[in-house]
Amino acid sequence: MPMPDQRYSRREAIAVGVATAIAVTQAGAALAAASAGEAADSAAGKNAGAADKAVGINTRAIPSTGERLPVVGLGTNNYSPATPEERAARLAVVEQLPQLGGAVIDTAPAYRQSETVLGELMAEIGNRERIFLASKVTAADGDRAKGVAMLEESFRRLRTGRIDLMQVHNLMGVDVMLPVLAQWKQAGRIRYVGITTSNASQYPEMLAAMRKHTLDFIQVDYSIANRGAAEAILPLAKERGQAVLINMPFGGRRDGNVFRHVAGKALPDWAQEIEAASWGQFLLKYVVSHPAVTCAIPGMTRTSHLEDNLGALRGPLPDAAFRRRMEALWDDGIMAGDAE
Ligand SMILES: NC(=O)c1ccc[n+]([C@@H]2O[C@H](COP(=O)([O-])OP(=O)(O)OC[C@H]3O[C@@H](n4cnc5c(N)ncnc54)[C@H](OP(=O)(O)O)[C@@H]3O)[C@@H](O)[C@H]2O)c1
Repeated sequence: MPMPDQRYSRREAIAVGVATAIAVTQAGAALAAASAGEAADSAAGKNAGAADKAVGINTRAIPSTGERLPVVGLGTNNYSPATPEERAARLAVVEQLPQLGGAVIDTAPAYRQSETVLGELMAEIGNRERIFLASKVTAADGDRAKGVAMLEESFRRLRTGRIDLMQVHNLMGVDVMLPVLAQWKQAGRIRYVGITTSNASQYPEMLAAMRKHTLDFIQVDYSIANRGAAEAILPLAKERGQAVLINMPFGGRRDGNVFRHVAGKALPDWAQEIEAASWGQFLLKYVVSHPAVTCAIPGMTRTSHLEDNLGALRGPLPDAAFRRRMEALWDDGIMAGDAE
């Protein structure tokens, strides 16, 4: 059964949705009135938490501070638009994310134009202060100076004085960069520190780094079709008090994408019990209901996907028994059906 304390009727959900939108908008307006630049940037985290103060949004606390984040954000590894139309579509996604109750945006220098495009879009829209901004850094060959130069470049491209979360990308240079990130955190230029992976071959190294270092966040791949992280990484994050971002919650953009397995298949009736109205919401609610997960960051370049996925911010989340039912459907229904 869904978690009872988070259950409410669809009419209430709609009312709550409206209240949330108003509250978030008011928070945005208040912040817009604050002095520009650094002051607005420093308010970003508080503003991300504003979504929680509005009733009805599913949020999770960052263990190291208690600050709450909406459980669905945005991944931007496909934010290098080739045409004005593609850029306009991404602008609409970045604009609507906080309007629909989301806050987290994940990017990286490795994602081609992503940081530059995001910096431009947030400046154009004027919503930097409503975003919980996460980027990444690497120290190629353990070269600290290269890592520091990359950090400076991220601030320039993202056009901000403060980045909410800075993560060591794919564990490249963890021992070299974490002390640097600790200093930058101390200086107030970044608010949280983390490490990422999206490959099971790195899990042993990831687990070792999680045990060795004090981390605010980890980021790992996890979906209903890819549950390896639940074996050791997610339990260790919970035990160590590390917030968790989930990358590739739909199995990634390419061959692993889960939507090809559900195309043309009806949602089960019991999806209504968690108010999942689409496969996107069903699959995201599975991911974010893991007790260790803080926020999933699906890649989205069109507003139809954003509107669909941010529906998972509302309504009940599955409990353990319901999650097992979802897994059984995936393993014995969807995937078994595909194999026939
Ligand atoms: N090692 C790392 O640190 C690492 C590795 C991989 C990814 N990441 C991060 O995680 C983010 C998410 O991963 P990902 O983007 O590779 O994969 P993903 O989130 O699993 O899948 C994204 C794909 O699903 C599509 N999609 C999204 N919502 C949908 C919906 N409701 N219905 C149908 N299709 C939908 C997107 O289409 P549209 O684009 O057309 O909307 C896109 O093609 C990345 O963007 C990146 O920020 C980090």
